[in-house]
Amino acid sequence: MNKEQKTFHKSRRELLRKAMGKGSIAIVFGSTNFNKSYDGDFRFKQYKNFYYLTGFEEPNSAIIISNSKIGDSKSNEVLFVQRKDLLLETWNGRRMGFENVSQELGIKKAYVNTELPGFLNLRKKKEIRRVYVNFSELIKLTGEMRQLAESFLESLNILASDVEIIDIAYLLGKLRSVKSEYEIKMISKAADISVKSYYETLDSIRPGKYEYEVQAALEYNYKVFGSEDNAYYPIVASGENGCILHYDSNNCLLKDGELLLIDSAGEHRYYCSDITRTFPINGKFTKEQRTVYDIVLKANKECIKRCKPGTSFSKLREVSDKIIADGLNKAGILKNKKNIRKYTLHGLGHHIGLDTHDAVSYSKTSEDDNDTLRPGNVVTIEPGVYFPTGSEGIPKKYWGISVRIEDDVLVTRKDPVDFTSHMVKEADDIEKFMSSAN
Ligand code: GLY
Ligand code: MN
Ligand code: MN
Repeated sequence: MNKEQKTFHKSRRELLRKAMGKGSIAIVFGSTNFNKSYDGDFRFKQYKNFYYLTGFEEPNSAIIISNSKIGDSKSNEVLFVQRKDLLLETWNGRRMGFENVSQELGIKKAYVNTELPGFLNLRKKKEIRRVYVNFSELIKLTGEMRQLAESFLESLNILASDVEIIDIAYLLGKLRSVKSEYEIKMISKAADISVKSYYETLDSIRPGKYEYEVQAALEYNYKVFGSEDNAYYPIVASGENGCILHYDSNNCLLKDGELLLIDSAGEHRYYCSDITRTFPINGKFTKEQRTVYDIVLKANKECIKRCKPGTSFSKLREVSDKIIADGLNKAGILKNKKNIRKYTLHGLGHHIGLDTHDAVSYSKTSEDDNDTLRPGNVVTIEPGVYFPTGSEGIPKKYWGISVRIEDDVLVTRKDPVDFTSHMVKEADDIEKFMSSAN
């Protein structure tokens, strides 16, 4: 791990200590392997809260963080990792080993994970008043880690009468909602990789190709440009499929005259981007498609401009719905503007970060709600309009049209920074690019 990354994760542990206050201890479990079928597992992915605090990507790990010394470790942070095992490493990949943790990760103290139960015996520790745990993840653990956590789980009902036991997600969510310089760099890099990949993919959008061919081109390019994973499963939805918000079959033929809605992006060093663009499959929008496209684009651009501290997702959604309702009404597509939400369906945006829908806290109080935008938030702006076949009151020639345009935006004290602004989105520019790509 490089110095910048070490410094970042160390600073997160320090922030957590400050947020927890004295007399608190945090126990955060990493992820384990999950079975896919028979003897095959899903590809391992670290839990994001654990990653945030450690940057460590191996399964079967846990970290304890406190403001004072933990057990006999003489340290206020202790990482538990898999033991080195040459035979298992030959089968399943290299392990760092506790011996190398302080050098590699900058975490002061480490032990083999079998030592963990000894550190989880908290009943007689008078100085501990609050225990923060990632419960929703703890209960999903499998294999050796589940066994190691078993006695801790069993001790909880007794422990709970002595100390406050709190899920850590809320506290970490608050920290995660404001991005550091390092995180901003990672998200913007993920966005940049994704944008480059879209450009490389434009020439695979044409009648006769399949949705999965476009998906394959995107995923190939994410890897080539430096992304380790999809930020989420790609949505490559042609024609009417675009009206299914989480469409992921990606197995249909691209047809002349239809639109292709792509909602896909890569991840970089665990940080996500989230982009949607809508393309005419034959390279030229029909009059009806263009009308709807330009209305959605207007809402997208106006909301990005307004991504400033103090506004909120709900206010921006009102702005977006109004622009879209007025636009559709003026174009003779929507008679009753009050019905607009039947066709815009989803929220206007969300936080992004380690998770695509970032796990920021969901408090409803005015000083830390997750609706209000604050400096350091990174959010998506993604207005959409969907007219599935049968849309009541919508002229038939618009049925089957779906348009979504999604960008990734950093909220600052000054102007918003759009990380995906270099991805083509004016209708004329899209047509120009597509004619030169094909
Ligand atoms: N890709 C999921 C979303 O746009 O929220
Ligand atoms: Mn999104
Ligand atoms: Mn998206």
